[in-house]
Amino acid sequence: MKVLIIGFGNLGQKIASILSRERECFPALGDLEVIPAGIITRSRGALIDPQGVDLAASLSMMERYGKFDAGSTFYSETGALEAAQSFEYDVLVEMSTLSIENHGEPAVSHIRAALERGKHVVSANKGPVAFRYSELAELAREKGCRFLFETVVMDGAPVFNLARCTLKGCTVKGIEGILNSTTNFVLTKIEQGFPMEEAVKEAQRLGIAEAEPSLDLEGWDAAAKTAVLANVLMNANITPYQVNRSGITGITEEEITSARRRGRYLKLVCRAKTENGNIKASVGVEELPENHHFSAVSGSGSILRIETDLMSPIMVTQEAPDLYDTAYGVIDDLLTLQRSMS
Ligand SMILES: NC(=O)c1ccc[n+]([C@@H]2O[C@H](COP(=O)([O-])OP(=O)(O)OC[C@H]3O[C@@H](n4cnc5c(N)ncnc54)[C@H](OP(=O)(O)O)[C@@H]3O)[C@@H](O)[C@H]2O)c1
Repeated sequence: MKVLIIGFGNLGQKIASILSRERECFPALGDLEVIPAGIITRSRGALIDPQGVDLAASLSMMERYGKFDAGSTFYSETGALEAAQSFEYDVLVEMSTLSIENHGEPAVSHIRAALERGKHVVSANKGPVAFRYSELAELAREKGCRFLFETVVMDGAPVFNLARCTLKGCTVKGIEGILNSTTNFVLTKIEQGFPMEEAVKEAQRLGIAEAEPSLDLEGWDAAAKTAVLANVLMNANITPYQVNRSGITGITEEEITSARRRGRYLKLVCRAKTENGNIKASVGVEELPENHHFSAVSGSGSILRIETDLMSPIMVTQEAPDLYDTAYGVIDDLLTLQRSMS
């Protein structure tokens, strides 16, 4: 399976490491064969080799120089859109940065270019699903290819696979959850007595915070995930701008610790619900009692509760995910594609 990789940051490098240096640690990956026709970044160059870019060598370059080696035979300055439009590949793997102010661009254009050519797409970038899901899903259907994005909500934990494979025939009426790891991690750290600034730095060090942490702290990442869930599971056709949003920046450290002293928890809760045929979506801090399911979710953990017409509410929880979980979400989509292509 030839893939074109766009974005080689924390996530791209973790996937590369799992598929090369660490491959022997994960025997169940079995015959997964990923041949990277190209790896493209925004400011660190690109590597192109139709026979397959060497992932371990790509990682070494990043570790040694912080960018791809311009002296390498495979070095190129090709941009992502040009590569998506012209390279030979089977699957585009979109792992560039989330952009709210540009409404998911340029990732939307990368994905559209691939789908128009009948190429499958795996996106870790939630922007395109949050802003343009119905258009891109329709284009994929028209071209007979797949548009997969398991990792964009709750990393590798099954959310879209769960709905697609196990909730057939159910209409999703509502979703709620704690879906932003950074804010939950920061709230937990503040409860433990750390200042907010230090907690945010730690989240960045662990690679769980967005490149621009205000996207997490002001609730934009959570709003994007809420829009994704509403669009994919509830046919909502909304964008993150239609999610009634507030983050944790307006909350003081004292408010967080005093809630704990009263035996309660402050949590950033995402909600989307169908009301009289309309979807209402929101993200905001809520004070929850100690015995609420969401109160037990600490650190970088997440939880999602799905309400349907036929089934009683279902909950998916994830404890302390890290970059392996996010990488797994992408790898799971690649395995789905490899199996459907063979
Ligand atoms: N990390 C996580 O835990 C996690 C979890 C779920 C989803 N995601 C999503 O996965 C994506 C990647 O995350 P990450 O942590 O790897 O981010 P990151 O470390 O910031 O890396 C982003 C990569 O994308 C490249 N890029 C940005 N804009 C580009 C463009 N226009 N054309 C080509 N390359 C471009 C960057 O290149 P430069 O370095 O040259 O700028 C960099 O290589 C993001 O959309 C993020 O929201 C991440």
